[in-house]
Amino acid sequence: MASAVPSEYTNQVVVSDEIATFSPEVLAEIDAHVAKYPPERKRSALIPLLLLVIQRERGFVDNASVNFLAQKLDIQVSDVWETATFYSMINMRPVGKYHIQVCKTLSCRIMGEENITEHICNRLGIHAGETTTDGKFTVSRVECLGSCGTAPMLQIGFDYHEDLTTEKVDRILDSLK
Ligand code: FES
Repeated sequence: MASAVPSEYTNQVVVSDEIATFSPEVLAEIDAHVAKYPPERKRSALIPLLLLVIQRERGFVDNASVNFLAQKLDIQVSDVWETATFYSMINMRPVGKYHIQVCKTLSCRIMGEENITEHICNRLGIHAGETTTDGKFTVSRVECLGSCGTAPMLQIGFDYHEDLTTEKVDRILDSLK
């Protein structure tokens, strides 16, 4: 029987030659991340920059950011794309203030992920992969978040919420202003 929960979103990428610009303070922060690695290994700064700087500054990783990082780290644009699109914690499109990422992998699925996702979506009036019209919530279904022993679980920002029930989900959503 087909799942009642829609599959996750497809990234929508607009390709251009634009290169992102940042304030002197942010550029200094970027340089500080790059300086943590040997010059010949500076590409190792890619994930920290994507996760900790680019997303915070631009909300998501857009094409201009990808071009900037490729130039900054002396790597191919395709190197940035393949890393950025691999990890669900890196957003390739605008997301809401609260990005609710529900784990959909085996342990969580067995323990009721579909009910949890459906409950969240019904409460917010959206489908998985969508953002509420007020821009407050985005719901995504993602692969294993490494907390299988406390399934079902979800992540909001950097916080994990585990051993979920619909009642617990209600309390979490009520707490998000
Ligand atoms: S299966 Fe959900 S956290 Fe691993």
